Amino acid sequence: MSRLQHFGWFLARGFGPQGWGHPYLDWNYRWTEPRLYQESARVLEQAGFDLLIIEDAPSLGSAETIDLRVRQAFGGPKHDPLLLAPYLFDATRHLGIAPTVNPAAYLPYTAARQFATLQHLSGHRLGLNVVTDTGSARHFGDAPQLGHDAAYDRAEEWLRGIQDLWRSWDDDALIADPARGRYADGDKLHAVPHRGAHFAFDGPLNAIPFTEGDPAIVSPGGSGRGLAFAGANSDVQLALAPLDRESITAYRAKIHAAAAASGRAPSDIRILFAIQPVLVSSPEEADRVVAASAHPDDAALRWIAERQSSDLETDLTAVDLDRPLDTAIFGEHVSEGSIRRLVGAHDAATPLRTILAAHARLGRLRDGSGFVGTADELADRIQELGDWGNDGVLLWGDLHPVAVHRTLGELVPILRRRGILRSEYVDGGLKANLHAF
Ligand SMILES: Cc1cc2nc3c(=O)[nH]c(=O)nc-3n(C[C@H](O)[C@H](O)[C@H](O)COP(=O)(O)O)c2cc1C
Repeated sequence: MSRLQHFGWFLARGFGPQGWGHPYLDWNYRWTEPRLYQESARVLEQAGFDLLIIEDAPSLGSAETIDLRVRQAFGGPKHDPLLLAPYLFDATRHLGIAPTVNPAAYLPYTAARQFATLQHLSGHRLGLNVVTDTGSARHFGDAPQLGHDAAYDRAEEWLRGIQDLWRSWDDDALIADPARGRYADGDKLHAVPHRGAHFAFDGPLNAIPFTEGDPAIVSPGGSGRGLAFAGANSDVQLALAPLDRESITAYRAKIHAAAAASGRAPSDIRILFAIQPVLVSSPEEADRVVAASAHPDDAALRWIAERQSSDLETDLTAVDLDRPLDTAIFGEHVSEGSIRRLVGAHDAATPLRTILAAHARLGRLRDGSGFVGTADELADRIQELGDWGNDGVLLWGDLHPVAVHRTLGELVPILRRRGILRSEYVDGGLKANLHAF
């Protein structure tokens, strides 16, 4: 019998016009209204998914390059996913919802209050995807901009402060007993004064404590500091890694060591490995799609150039496709790592066309070279991950009913038949379901 795994869906382009440029724009595509997302959330719940994570970045990037970010909607606009969450909770009963939150954007007391409110309203189904991007600092009066590790330090102080506020009521502070004529005992509420490196505030919080535990903490950082954060704090780690046995095992060992270093058990954290599948109806079609991707036309290259221009805040669409890419066009705001990810192993004489074409190239699920394949082949892959001890999978895509149906329609019955995907939820909310097996 194969092993049950946990499933998350990552709305990778955030709460924005994610479908821009796709044919399903024609189908009821009103991205500022909740219905589009509610319908998809219901499908994820019928499928038995643990949670939906909604990407976010609060900024359109640097002032000089805003057009690159918005002209094809790759970098914005984005509405606030925290405020979409209640609409999704209202449309579902068991699915966890994890909006992305950046500690730079919420003072701890406000955050503790808002998250407590949503945790109560949702029946303990809130997750928080905690990210530490500092590129938005200037919008929050946050100067000087923090460095990479310092942003993680701040995130830990923020989270600890929020947790202290959630615990500012003693267990017996809430009485709610009409016979005694007492709702609560003020002597059992504590100020938990916080004077830290980044925040200073007093409690107690004016929200009541949780009965089924705190919101689930989700984290996506893959650096050494990011993994340490996950080990110390997270219930769910979103993992980006090659999906071979060695890489999976090494990644899991690092998270488990980080958990142990913080006095936690490996089983406290569910690690979900990200997969962005391209599902097709037959192995022959998969071969055709992969073969075609090796020879992208100019329109396909242009689409990749647009996406990279937004991510790297540098206009690649203005560069001649048939000349070598001069990396001097990238300003100081572009990290070496981002340029390396774009250029790959190509040398300085390589034309941009070849570099972009490498990003268009797809591989087959069947031979482990990529993620194009049939639902059966994807299920084989997921099953194999489970055989290696994997906790779960993060499917990565848009959140539109057409996109969700296309991915899940065939896959879910196969996974369920094989005993990989749950067939029922337990009561108690997101954490209870994450720990149901
Ligand atoms: C699956 C996944 C989801 C992510 N989601 C977000 C996000 O919504 N917003 C964001 O600012 N960064 C997001 N990131 C980026 C990470 O938060 C982080 O900035 C990045 O991984 C760099 O951190 P690191 O140096 O610890 O790896 C995501 C990364 C991964 C792998």
